[in-house]
Amino acid sequence: MEQDKDLLNKAKIVSENAYAPYSKFKVGAAIEYENGNIYTGCNVENASYGLSICAERNAVSNAVSSGEKSKIKTVAIYSPNQKKCMPCGACRQWIAEFSSDNTRIILEDDDNKIISMTLEEIFPNAFSIEG
Ligand code: THU
Repeated sequence: MEQDKDLLNKAKIVSENAYAPYSKFKVGAAIEYENGNIYTGCNVENASYGLSICAERNAVSNAVSSGEKSKIKTVAIYSPNQKKCMPCGACRQWIAEFSSDNTRIILEDDDNKIISMTLEEIFPNAFSIEG
């Protein structure tokens, strides 16, 4: 899908801004909401390692800070260091907070083919206050 390709390209572009002097592992995320708005984020590390924050959570924070109220449609993740860079557990929970049953995660495989999965597939039975 052309739209998925564009979103992955945005993730790729923002991964270049990653601040990852410690792990040297750069990540970019581009999130499209159901209303068509798109937000991006990269990972930002810190000398106090545990304070580092992932690309996906920065993209979500960017959306919330911008006043976004729609649900997450697609999350594209790109790392120049590793194809198929799956979102970490903390980021899955963050995405779940603003997701719908249709929320998808997309990545590129080694042959530049797009892999698409639902959040539900990779993060079933997520914690939510509604139960
Ligand atoms: N990282 C992300 O940005 N997203 C993920 O889903 C996994 C890990 C970052 C955190 C850290 O800066 C670097 O990748 C290595 O773990």
